[in-house]
Amino acid sequence: MSVWHIRGGTRLRGSIRAQGSKNAVLPILAASILTGCESEILNCPHLSDVDAAIEILRHLGCEAAQEGDSLSIDSRGLSCCAIPRELMHRMRSSVIFLGPLLGRCGEAHVSLPGGCELGPRPVDLHLMALRALGAEVEQEGDGIVCRSRGLRGAEISFPSPSVGATENAMIAACAARGESVIYNAAREPEIGTLQEYLRSLGAEVSGAGTPVIRVRGFAPGKAVGIRVPPDRIVSATYLCCAAITGGDVEVQGAAWRDMEEVLRSLEAMGCRIRRSASGVRLVADGRLTSPGAVATQPYPGFPTDAAPLLMAASTVAEGSSVFMENIFSSRYRYAEELKKMGADIELRGSLALVNGVERLRAAETESTDLRGDAALITAALAAEGESRIQDEGHIARGYDGLESVLRSLGAELWTE
Ligand code: EPZ
Repeated sequence: MSVWHIRGGTRLRGSIRAQGSKNAVLPILAASILTGCESEILNCPHLSDVDAAIEILRHLGCEAAQEGDSLSIDSRGLSCCAIPRELMHRMRSSVIFLGPLLGRCGEAHVSLPGGCELGPRPVDLHLMALRALGAEVEQEGDGIVCRSRGLRGAEISFPSPSVGATENAMIAACAARGESVIYNAAREPEIGTLQEYLRSLGAEVSGAGTPVIRVRGFAPGKAVGIRVPPDRIVSATYLCCAAITGGDVEVQGAAWRDMEEVLRSLEAMGCRIRRSASGVRLVADGRLTSPGAVATQPYPGFPTDAAPLLMAASTVAEGSSVFMENIFSSRYRYAEELKKMGADIELRGSLALVNGVERLRAAETESTDLRGDAALITAALAAEGESRIQDEGHIARGYDGLESVLRSLGAELWTE
């Protein structure tokens, strides 16, 4: 547990570099199991979720090491197809290893990742996809055993889009004989990065970014490299920190084309945003106005992970806004903590009604989840006085050097 001490009131100014995308790199780390050779991943962020994935790869017998922003993996030595419970529970999205393990070994033993701060994290869509590809799936308590005597191409129709289940299906389909078609696939940009990686291994994959993805299996066996794109949620976080403090911040390298819903909301709040080849710059002067209605949706809708950050900025905006969370069932624990800072928020199930106040006041808040804790830090940057934000290790899961980046922009903060 660490505690962030933040003295609010400084306008953030400056230029920072966007970190590599956590949600792009994690499925690639899992997919590297398929190859039986070396992969080099560039622009890889330093995160505890990446460390957890490296632990899993090493447990399975692979070599994996991160040097600076480069992560190298050699999966030739893979000698195990079971991931112990304690490793599965270190990272929420560890179920992404199921498809690659099954594809490489014909067998996979994992435990359910369990629920998290956002609510239950079911894996029924993951298992449905693997069964469609011919796997036998048995659940024993919180354990899952998958076996196959050879995956075969299939049609997989998801009842609703799921990022992780789409990724598991794409990776396992690469090890299947024949063609697979995935309908109602998730369209997040991270799916496109995974497609790029799988193609570099020699797989025929097309359709990422659309609801229909086609995959034809391949015989793996060549070393590859890939550069991870910038993290769109971390970039959105820094822009919301600039917005709430009335600052002027450029996020170099930000993939603003993947962030349009967030940028449009910030512009609706009165921020001036410049999109360019070098990244995105936000200037906020004068009091923000409310963003109106914000409903989270699968991509290309408003991303659920950016909603906490936008809500933090909305708490001091002029006017009222309504947030509707359509992805996760318990995403509002951070809103209760924002109210300790004087935010006027009324929660009604998946709705959060926010009435902007002139100024937040410093408070001591409890840790909630990755994006919730980032929202509390964002709000504290504009609160009057010194806030103490508890962090149970969530920030390190998704933010590479958040403290030093915010300090480089002028924030008065330190952690203990
Ligand atoms: C990915 O999680 C991201 N994580 C999440 O980011 C992000 O919030 C989420 O996608 C957005 O959809 C990574 O990419 C590592 P889903 P994932 O499967 O794949 C339900 C962060 O902060 N569902 O798209 O787990 C599920 O309960 C994290 O970086 C099933 O019902 O999300 C949810 O309501 C948080 N059955 C909805 O689908 C399943 O088998 C979308 O979840 C799988 C999911």
